[in-house]
Amino acid sequence: MPISARILMCPPDHYGIRYEINRWMDLDRPADPEAAAAQWRSLRAAVADLPGVAVVEIAPRPELPDMVFTANGGLHVDHRVVLGSFRHPERQGETPHFAAWFAAQGYRLVTPPDGLFLEGAGDVVRTATGWIAGYPQRSSASAHRWLAEVLGEEVISVELVDPRYYHLDTCLVVLGEQCAACAPEAFDAYGLTVLHDRFEDLIEVDPAEGERFACNLVAWAGHAILPAGCPRLAASLVERGWTTVAVDTSEYIKAGGACRCLCLTLPAQGTVVSGLAPLQG
Ligand code: ARG
Repeated sequence: MPISARILMCPPDHYGIRYEINRWMDLDRPADPEAAAAQWRSLRAAVADLPGVAVVEIAPRPELPDMVFTANGGLHVDHRVVLGSFRHPERQGETPHFAAWFAAQGYRLVTPPDGLFLEGAGDVVRTATGWIAGYPQRSSASAHRWLAEVLGEEVISVELVDPRYYHLDTCLVVLGEQCAACAPEAFDAYGLTVLHDRFEDLIEVDPAEGERFACNLVAWAGHAILPAGCPRLAASLVERGWTTVAVDTSEYIKAGGACRCLCLTLPAQGTVVSGLAPLQG
């Protein structure tokens, strides 16, 4: 089968809880390096099993424990990559490494202006007609306006109101042209209206599963890789014709991330809506 996307992952050799920059991270609750390595390998294997997908890797850096969360490194838009611009100094050192990797792979880099924060695919998702972006915990709303101008496309800003859901990819996943899943408690009334208007079939995940990062699933061509402990969302997907696999990401949830945070999808052509690709015909 031809490769229709590469998924960028970063080996967890230097992963750990070494600072606290979100509600999940607690220096008194360290990650177990061996368990984290095993979980990452399981996720990598599940991703490599997706049809038409190849896993590619970026070298981890000892001083950058969160570099495993490649989703924040950039946002892929049709041969261009909008570089991740991190709010916290703890992660700002990742940007040059991601930039060098993207440049070496031949992507045209677009860099957000100084002072605007935009945490890559972690805060911006593609829909069939435009983009939805989260603010203000990590990305700035002004960065969304800048992005809309650069792309010449609609970017709808939604406010993330619950500190547990500080990146948009922790609480929203697009599953098709008219289908998405969300953790409703992450949004205000306006945001929920936007999502209901945009998606005819909006799955509101159970709060307990939302908190296990149910929405932080990797969706590809009718196959979903979900964090463990989300059987209700998995069942909803199966009802809609998806196949699902669960991967334990408990060591990464300690840092505030799960399956999709650990993956950056780089389609071979065009810009892919995760749940649609490459369902042709
Ligand atoms: N500890 C990381 C941070 O707070 C986790 C990033 C999770 N990534 C994501 N795309 N949601 O920045």
